[in-house]
Amino acid sequence: MNTFGTRLKFTSFGESHGMAIGCVIDGMPAGVKFDEEFLQKELDKRKPGKNTFSTPRKESDRAQILSGVFEGFTTAAPIAIVIFNENAHSKDYENIKDLFRPAHADFTYFHKFGIRDYRGGGRSSARESAARVAAGAVAAMLLKEFEIEVQSGIFSVGAINSKLDSAEFDFDFAQKSEIFCLDPKLEEEFKQEILKAKKAKDSVGAGVYTRVKNAFAGLGEVLYDKLDSKLAHALMGINAVKAVEIGSGIKASQMKGSQNNDLMKDNVFLSNHSGGILGGISNGNLIETKTYFKPTPSIFLAQQTQNIAGENVLCELKGRHDPCVGVRGSVVATAMVRLVIADSLLLNASSKLEYLKKIYKLF
Ligand SMILES: Cc1cc2nc3c(=O)[nH]c(=O)nc-3n(C[C@H](O)[C@H](O)[C@H](O)COP(=O)(O)O)c2cc1C
Repeated sequence: MNTFGTRLKFTSFGESHGMAIGCVIDGMPAGVKFDEEFLQKELDKRKPGKNTFSTPRKESDRAQILSGVFEGFTTAAPIAIVIFNENAHSKDYENIKDLFRPAHADFTYFHKFGIRDYRGGGRSSARESAARVAAGAVAAMLLKEFEIEVQSGIFSVGAINSKLDSAEFDFDFAQKSEIFCLDPKLEEEFKQEILKAKKAKDSVGAGVYTRVKNAFAGLGEVLYDKLDSKLAHALMGINAVKAVEIGSGIKASQMKGSQNNDLMKDNVFLSNHSGGILGGISNGNLIETKTYFKPTPSIFLAQQTQNIAGENVLCELKGRHDPCVGVRGSVVATAMVRLVIADSLLLNASSKLEYLKKIYKLF
């Protein structure tokens, strides 16, 4: 699917080496202040070619707003955003046009669709994730009205893991860090790990922590559309993500109930193993997720693979690639969580008669 969301929906379009990428966002209420500068700053965080820790492909990723905004406010009409591709080097992909890059989507896309857009991976490229960041920034404009904030950063690179508790993560530092590192003491070690992989013509995986501040109790739908399942769906849908945890995640399965239960006193939860979600509904605590990115598939070591004729061949890549996709992936994680929370906010507006009466009594 190229469309995401229930009440607040966005559809992304475009390919890595096509003319443009972008999205159409539908379901934003009218009257939300549209902050174009903020939108561009969010795209700048994800844009490629910024430093040695991302792909050298240089794109300005300048967003053009085509519709849905008038005199600085949303109009409730679809918001169309386009970002033109400026720096595609399709020639770099000609020598691999008939072969499948190990761990990339080349093999499965070819078998499913029978068409091979070898230029940068076409639609399967994470170039598409710029559209998600744009849509997520628009969702953040709605969340801002409710003082809800979504933040992310890197807590692990390869086998190096921060020992800090999530409450100790430094988000101010992460915002300034070239690799969005949440643990100031580990930033240099993380950077060296990425550069070591890059120098060895290899790549490395990473872990991203995301939190939602000020999400009030009641967000999320029951059973099949639980907030935790929606978050997992949103985060797993990002390219290269192989696992998602909510709250204590896997560790909860290794605990006793007496260790994992979040006790309540004086109207607060004394811990947050649940990650702020109970029964699929937010409980007013911080919503906490961890997203695990695999190492970048495209590496510059020669690797065994097959071509579309079924022959065994060597894959020797040219082109430009991220040495650690989790770094820029952390910006995409923020965007996807923003979209889920904004969607939940809109859906929750009709969960009680009391809410509906409040709206209609205004008239
Ligand atoms: C922000 C971001 C940047 C990425 N950059 C690259 C890249 O430069 N080269 C590459 O081979 N894969 C890159 N990927 C990962 C691939 O898009 C992804 O692994 C591929 O589409 C296969 O999908 P899967 O790993 O989800 O199965 C990136 C992913 C993200 C989130």
